[in-house]
Amino acid sequence: MNDPFEGMTNQLFEDKHVLEEDYAPETILEREDEINAYRNALKDVLFGRNPSNIFIYGKTGVGKTAVTRYMMKALQKQVDSRDETDDLYVLFHNCNNDSAYGTLRAFINTLRDDSEPNFPKKGLSTGDALEAFYTTLDERGGTFLLVLDEIDHLAKVNSLLYELPRARSNGNLTHARIGVIGISNNYRFRDSLSPKVKGTLMEKELSFSPYDANELRTILMHRAEKAFVDDAYTQSAISLCAAKAAQDTGSARQALDLLSTGGDLAEDRNDEVVTDDHIHSAETRVQRGRVRNKIRDQTPHAQLILEAVARLESSDETPVRSKSIQSTYERVAAHWGTDPLSSLRSVQDHLSELEMLGFLSRTERNDGRAGGAYYEYELAMDADAVFTAREEIAAEQEP
Ligand SMILES: Nc1ncnc2c1ncn2[C@@H]1O[C@H](COP(=O)(O)OP(=O)(O)OP(=O)(O)O)[C@@H](O)[C@H]1O
Ligand SMILES: [Mg+2]
Repeated sequence: MNDPFEGMTNQLFEDKHVLEEDYAPETILEREDEINAYRNALKDVLFGRNPSNIFIYGKTGVGKTAVTRYMMKALQKQVDSRDETDDLYVLFHNCNNDSAYGTLRAFINTLRDDSEPNFPKKGLSTGDALEAFYTTLDERGGTFLLVLDEIDHLAKVNSLLYELPRARSNGNLTHARIGVIGISNNYRFRDSLSPKVKGTLMEKELSFSPYDANELRTILMHRAEKAFVDDAYTQSAISLCAAKAAQDTGSARQALDLLSTGGDLAEDRNDEVVTDDHIHSAETRVQRGRVRNKIRDQTPHAQLILEAVARLESSDETPVRSKSIQSTYERVAAHWGTDPLSSLRSVQDHLSELEMLGFLSRTERNDGRAGGAYYEYELAMDADAVFTAREEIAAEQEP
């Protein structure tokens, strides 16, 4: 073969990026009620009042981040066009794997001029970071909206969420106003907060429900028009993506993934039109990717415990009690060169969490007076999918 790339043309996609995760849609479809509620929750910013704190929740892929970005952009534009309104600064932070300190540090460094030194990575306390943050805010003055996306991932969240909304009333801020916007897809997160924090953060709550097939079809059609060249997909393929995603999770991300992966498969096969066939084949691939992402989101120990249950499952030893899981987990941890958590209690906590997230299923057993009540666990997914995902994640992390 002379030139392996000769004759290759881009015949299917007009602009593939439109289907990707980091694409910011210029229009948000099928979220009128949520946008309306959001607008009301934010309107104080336009009138020089203290902004409300807002909590956004809903399952993964239902538009929480996309709608928030869209609203922030619109609000910024509106504020900029009104002379009488205080300056607005929107600070966006994804809290995945971050601490309160890291979050504050990121905010401070975004606000500081290039001439000022960066806030140090180490060596100071969260209290120091908070103080530096307030100083920076007050120097600037104006309204600051702090968007904490995936807030349930933030370590030691209570004190930060207690402090920030009270900064003005506690006299830590005079020229600046703060509003906190927390976003989460973890329903248990709210229960984990202290009552006082819950009271302030959840001043305004907005819940995003899963999309149905019709809504997903509208969203997909709009994107497909931009992403593909004319006549490169059938309406039926779009409807199939919408139907599959609606039936499974109601996530727009999943629907978009199906369509984009279907497009990839069609392209690989040199087909000129994306059809139902491609979408059916895309499903397995997307499913695998989703499992991997979901596992990657777990802490290292949660992943090892999940892997331990998967091992027990593949050697037909499930349902199994937490004590036996613990010893398998210790071996798995040794295999990966990690020190295991030592208490049974912490293993059990991870098991409950993994059950809540749908990785495991559990049954309560009762041995009567002798044994008392206990749980037995099983894997709620394919064991091979867990092994594959774990290997892929480990490969990603290799330097
Ligand atoms: N109403 C909508 N109109 C257009 N695109 C949408 C809409 N809702 C979601 N999307 C798209 O679907 C994808 C997933 O949405 P988004 O990232 O906002 O989900 P999320 O609710 O933040 O999920 P997670 O909890 O996993 O962070 C994004 O690519 C987004 O652009
Ligand atoms: Mg999000």
